[in-house]
Amino acid sequence: MLNHVLNPKNREALYDDIRQNCNVSLDKGIYIELNLNYTDISHLKTLCEDYILKTLKSYYVMDFKKNNFLVKYRDKILHLPNRAPSGAFYPKVENVKEYNRIQSFVNDILNKNNLVNQFKSFDLTTVRVVDGQTTDLDSRVSSTTRLHSDAWAGHDGDAILTIGLLGDKNTSTEFNKIIGNISPLFYETQPDYVKGLQTFKKYEHISNLKFDNATIFDHTCLHRTLKTNGGLRVSIDIGITLKSSDGVSKTKKYGRVMKKIKIKDILKIGKETIVEATETLKECRVRFKDDKYDKIPITYIHDTIKIG
Ligand SMILES: [Fe+2]
Repeated sequence: MLNHVLNPKNREALYDDIRQNCNVSLDKGIYIELNLNYTDISHLKTLCEDYILKTLKSYYVMDFKKNNFLVKYRDKILHLPNRAPSGAFYPKVENVKEYNRIQSFVNDILNKNNLVNQFKSFDLTTVRVVDGQTTDLDSRVSSTTRLHSDAWAGHDGDAILTIGLLGDKNTSTEFNKIIGNISPLFYETQPDYVKGLQTFKKYEHISNLKFDNATIFDHTCLHRTLKTNGGLRVSIDIGITLKSSDGVSKTKKYGRVMKKIKIKDILKIGKETIVEATETLKECRVRFKDDKYDKIPITYIHDTIKIG
């Protein structure tokens, strides 16, 4: 493999277009924060609240009030079948209308902030509801509380864009950059996150997740969920491939294959097309009832949806 790929510092230049054309508030090379408009962030928060509340109402068939709902209904939220241990909170038949509103508005935000122009493609939005309490599931070899690169989880783009939105800010994410070179195996999908730790030597802390900003972190940015026995935190994340790149290349096929949707089709969602869910919350519960979540997740947001 070419030597320049093995030095993560050389990936910093991929973000030059974003530096020049977008509202960057913090630049740490392979980690960039961007300011977002207050009104847009407030609206995105409301859409995420509506998405979670609609899921609760549909699954438990009772009324839920918005005020303080992440604290009041913590246990009920954690028992919803569309939520994976990583916190990923998937659209199902019952809540897909609210999901479409989120995707449509995320598209608007990316457009307004001149980000769409910097991307070759981007994925559907993953809404995450992360539990701040440590559980047995956090000792899994592919728990998001372990240091990892999303390339190890199967991503073949360049980076993830995330926005912290609701709940407990202490349930955070820690971001780190690698010092020195990486192994040629670094960008491969790994059997688990512990194995991935063998593909680099040293790292250094950059920042923790800031709410209300867009944070773009490269696949060489090692990160983990921080739990301090706090409350739930809601954030969104989106896999992106930059215009200046074709994404990280993989030589091996391992684990999940991520379906690609063209950028022009993602941008139509909520305007000309809609995302449809192919299973209900109950069907999802039955499908996962014996899953011990002891592998790198093979299910993915695209698996149970189609764009109609
Ligand atoms: Fe991750």
